[in-house]
Amino acid sequence: MAEIYPHTRMRRMRRHIFTRDLMAEHQLSAKDLIYPVFVLEGKNQREAIESMPGVERLSVDLLVEEAKELHALGIPALALFPVTPLERKSECASEAFNPDGLAQHAVRALKAAVPDMGIITDVALDPFTSHGQDGLLNEEGYVLNDETIEVLIKQALSHAQAGADIVAPSDMMDGRIGAIRQALESHGYINTCIMAYSAKYASNYYGPFRDAVGSAGNIKGGNKKSYQMDPANSNEAVREIALDIAEGADMVMVKPGMPYLDIVRRCKDEFAVPTFAYQVSGEYAMHKAAFMQGWLDEESVIMESLLAFKRAGADGILTYFAKQAAQILARDK
Ligand code: PBG
Repeated sequence: MAEIYPHTRMRRMRRHIFTRDLMAEHQLSAKDLIYPVFVLEGKNQREAIESMPGVERLSVDLLVEEAKELHALGIPALALFPVTPLERKSECASEAFNPDGLAQHAVRALKAAVPDMGIITDVALDPFTSHGQDGLLNEEGYVLNDETIEVLIKQALSHAQAGADIVAPSDMMDGRIGAIRQALESHGYINTCIMAYSAKYASNYYGPFRDAVGSAGNIKGGNKKSYQMDPANSNEAVREIALDIAEGADMVMVKPGMPYLDIVRRCKDEFAVPTFAYQVSGEYAMHKAAFMQGWLDEESVIMESLLAFKRAGADGILTYFAKQAAQILARDK
């Protein structure tokens, strides 16, 4: 008898919706999404961000209303990014740990109004330094490691005191996770989680974010390559992640997202810890630009891009599409 080809018909399982559903290996849920939000001083303030169409900076009162809506959509957590007026920035970034600062105030207001919404704060000095770098500088403009950590500790403690559920150091100083963990423990904040931006690359995809928080024009030295990682490296990310876990991180993060999904996969395979990825501002902007041109279909591409994070091993995704994706999921349920 003549041989019959093909031996294996992979298309058999793809023929019907029900078989495709049954064999789907990954699924996106609103519970996977963390929404980064930009916070303004004042009341009833709302500002568009030119390079991030559809994303707005909001004053705390409006953010509280927004948070109620996000909570109802099933989004488990927000990541706060304060927009600091120029007159409150300084060389020493003391506004970062002001107990009455904008981030601290926003945490208190959000936890009071929507207690079940997880609140994540950014621990890094760039919104507060006049030079836009994430740490303190010496005379040569080099970002000082250990001196910066002393300020990050105060900042993280002020967030914990305000009621932040998770502090997220995004500064890439060496040893900061251990130092912050020790400080939290010794001040009684034993249940404050640390989400470490462990593998954070010196990426060019952060441009729109720097617009959004107003640190764009003024980064002294022009880049952050002396502390953020080289996009050429993968083994180095594994070492960074291992250190942060050993120092006490509860969760680790890879950033940016889509161009770095190989790092997400390595992280999940090697460490099996709660793993997050950040689809950053530049990824949002380039998607959005193509949607606005009609070059890509908005809803289906958003959902595909987020599902790709899950497939790569991410437990959760920080994304500016969080609200829209949650709305799509709720509608299509
Ligand atoms: C700063 C910080 C940055 C982002 C999150 N925290 C920018 C930077 O490192 O320059 C970027 C987020 C985004 O691009 O969406 N510590």
